[in-house]
Amino acid sequence: MKVEWQPDKQGNTPVYQQIAQWLERQIIQGDLPPGASLPAERALAQRLGVNRGTVSAAYEELRAAGLLQSWQGSGTWVSRHLWGVQRVPNWHKYTNGGAFLPAYPLVKRIQEACFDPSIVNLAKAELATPLIPTFQPQELQELLQSQLQLGYIHPKGDPGLREVLSRHLRDQYGIAASPEEILVTSGAQQALHLISLCLLSPGDAVAMEGPSYSYSLPLFTSAGLRLYRLSMDEEGIVPGDIRRLHQENKLRMVFVNPTYHNPTGLVMSESRRREVLDLCMELRIPLVEDDAYGALAMKGSRKPPQPIKAMDSSGAVLYVNSVSKTIAPGLRIGWLVGPRSVVERLADAKQQMDFGTSSVSQQLARRFLESDRWRAQMERLATYLCTQREAMLTALDLHLSDCAEWKVPEGSYHVWCRLREPVGERQLLDAAILEGVVFTPGSVYGAEEGWMRLTYSWEAPDAIGDGIRRLKKALLEIGGR
Ligand SMILES: Cc1ncc(COP(=O)(O)O)c(C=O)c1O
Repeated sequence: MKVEWQPDKQGNTPVYQQIAQWLERQIIQGDLPPGASLPAERALAQRLGVNRGTVSAAYEELRAAGLLQSWQGSGTWVSRHLWGVQRVPNWHKYTNGGAFLPAYPLVKRIQEACFDPSIVNLAKAELATPLIPTFQPQELQELLQSQLQLGYIHPKGDPGLREVLSRHLRDQYGIAASPEEILVTSGAQQALHLISLCLLSPGDAVAMEGPSYSYSLPLFTSAGLRLYRLSMDEEGIVPGDIRRLHQENKLRMVFVNPTYHNPTGLVMSESRRREVLDLCMELRIPLVEDDAYGALAMKGSRKPPQPIKAMDSSGAVLYVNSVSKTIAPGLRIGWLVGPRSVVERLADAKQQMDFGTSSVSQQLARRFLESDRWRAQMERLATYLCTQREAMLTALDLHLSDCAEWKVPEGSYHVWCRLREPVGERQLLDAAILEGVVFTPGSVYGAEEGWMRLTYSWEAPDAIGDGIRRLKKALLEIGGR
């Protein structure tokens, strides 16, 4: 039972009615399911700071409505038989059931804080609004009048967009893929979801980097998969781990995020990419390459190697990417590249799920990718990310150099930072939010305590500095150095 609520004693509604309405809301929402015991009248009266008679009157009102039952000496409980006069379903049971697991509580806490604009946001992996390209009204008008199809679209995605993607993949990433080998998805996330639901079965063993973004997604465990960690060194995942895990658990798939890995920022070396691909081919294990951040090299930094998919002549790699980190996450345009049979199978499933990604978004993404705006946007981002990273590194040097260490990222949005003396991360997150800053604790990605992902893509440089200062304050408050 929720107890933070208090009646408004100065309000116009009698207090006993307020209590009755409060309890009724909890019954309807399923927080108080059928059969749930209510506190004794005296105890509840004490908690709410009212007379026992007031609670008695509230209980009586709900009994009269058929929502509560009680017997002398046995207490009061939510009616088991009637579902009250309102005949509400037991939502509590439903919301705790279903195949899809809820997000981790820590992730929910961060998401809540991310929606509070007064909190400095070092968790949101999104470009600041001015970096999102705009479309001219005239251009949109033209789209609506001439080209835009608003009917259901081909199950694999708009043919025009897939043509453009095929050229884009060849020119920007060195990947050879015909439009028939491309599936347009609602972000990279849907591609990962489709893979876990349609190509794998409950109980299958899959391996992924530890830590990793994929680990933060309950969608893999919701699909009943067994997750195994691949350790990483300076060059990326350690191939020997794949062989060992395969011998022990018969791996069915390997997931990697080799370029600007989320959260560590690591770039897998070219030779390691080759080694991982060769090993997966030898063991006949499909490799999923998530390249969501791959295009985000910073100005003045080394260019990362080409994606593993560019080396894959046999079709062992399923390549996943999107426009979320480069253009706009709200478009929800992503894609999967793989053998035709796989793309067809996943297209069929996607069709059953949502009848395709919005045609408006597909047309906008197509316009953007086929024009020279893509190149201009990438140049702009290379400079932007460099400035943002400098603001973050300056603030870290100033406030956290006595207690933490980090590596300088060469691309993407995040600094992966380790506190030399780990502190309770839930405690640190709560203290940080109270201080007005939110970050992502490493355990969200399956890291040990003490790691943090600090994101510099969203806030302005001054705010980044202020956020790190607040984080240091929170650390001191909870007794960290
Ligand atoms: C590594 C990685 N892959 C995939 C995604 C999903 O991105 P989207 O579905 O917006 O394309 C994210 C989002 O943060 C990510 O960090």
